[in-house]
Amino acid sequence: MSANVTLAPAVIAAAPADRGHRLRLVSGYVLAITLIVALTVYGLDYYTLSSADRPFSAKHALLKPSGAIGLKLGFLGLGMFFAIFLYPLRKRWAWLSRQGSARHWLDIHVLLGLAAPFVIAFHSSFKFGGFAGMAFWIMVAVSLSGIIGRYLYAQIPRRVNAAELTMKELQEMQTRLSGQLAKQDLLPQADLRSLLHLPSRERVEQLPMVVALAYMMVLDVVRAFRVAKLRRHALPIRQKLTTLLGFLPTRHPALERTIAAAREEASLAKRVVFLSRSQQVFHLWHVVHKPFSYSFALLALIHIVVVAMMGYF
Ligand code: HEM
Repeated sequence: MSANVTLAPAVIAAAPADRGHRLRLVSGYVLAITLIVALTVYGLDYYTLSSADRPFSAKHALLKPSGAIGLKLGFLGLGMFFAIFLYPLRKRWAWLSRQGSARHWLDIHVLLGLAAPFVIAFHSSFKFGGFAGMAFWIMVAVSLSGIIGRYLYAQIPRRVNAAELTMKELQEMQTRLSGQLAKQDLLPQADLRSLLHLPSRERVEQLPMVVALAYMMVLDVVRAFRVAKLRRHALPIRQKLTTLLGFLPTRHPALERTIAAAREEASLAKRVVFLSRSQQVFHLWHVVHKPFSYSFALLALIHIVVVAMMGYF
């Protein structure tokens, strides 16, 4: 049997250069979560007071939007706001596009886009009226829609530099992965066939857009169960239990490499079958995400100019 199943580097990008980025990203998420938890623990009794009672709280001077902490959170939100827009600007400014990789920039965009609504909510002390409130809710909508966008982005196979792969490159990659899997004898071919079972491209083309999107997501969940089944079949009873019925990896490098190749093949095959639908929905998603983002930016800028004119800075 061939234990040397290697993965297509364009699909699974885990180059050493990525490690520094991953570390920074994880630190960013830990920092953001710590800040949110600390503000919740410290401010819960203040934020749950009515507007009339808040001025009598000892924390009012700190946590009101113009307070010592509240204002700093506003500035932090402003900084995050500018950093979020660096990602789209990068596509337009040649010098910026030469800095770092598109994937890394998108990761930072996502981190800031998820954290910013929380920072702004704490800055506003959970009062969402007027222009600023409208900007906040649009920001929340943009941020939530971003989660769908990020999913769709991942459905379109790309090179390490984030450029989309052509159909010819995808087919070559599939052929390579299938060849590697055909040579292995650790996993039953029947289980592999079940992992690769997909609807035909013609059927997918006929599905309504929302159904196609839901179908893609369901297949991702089903794949996790089919991979666990593959692993279960290759293990003795005791290890079935220690791997939580095959959902956790084993300590067998050869088996794990083969399973990773099978999972990648199944994921790639699914993305190829749904490719034109993913591109179609992703294009529509852009059409919605962009104007909402810009209207949020406009309202946020109006809010900043108004408070600056009122002398809060
Ligand atoms: C709340 C603040 C956010 C703002 C203002 C914002 C704004 C933008 C803008 C203006 C674009 C460029 C659109 C285009 O060029 O057509 C963009 C792209 C994108 N954003 Fe956001 N976004 C936010 C949050 C998020 C979040 C939370 C996620 C994911 C969880 C996300 C995921 C994406 C993705 C996947 C793209 C497209 C990437 C590409 O096609 O290259 N965004 N965003």
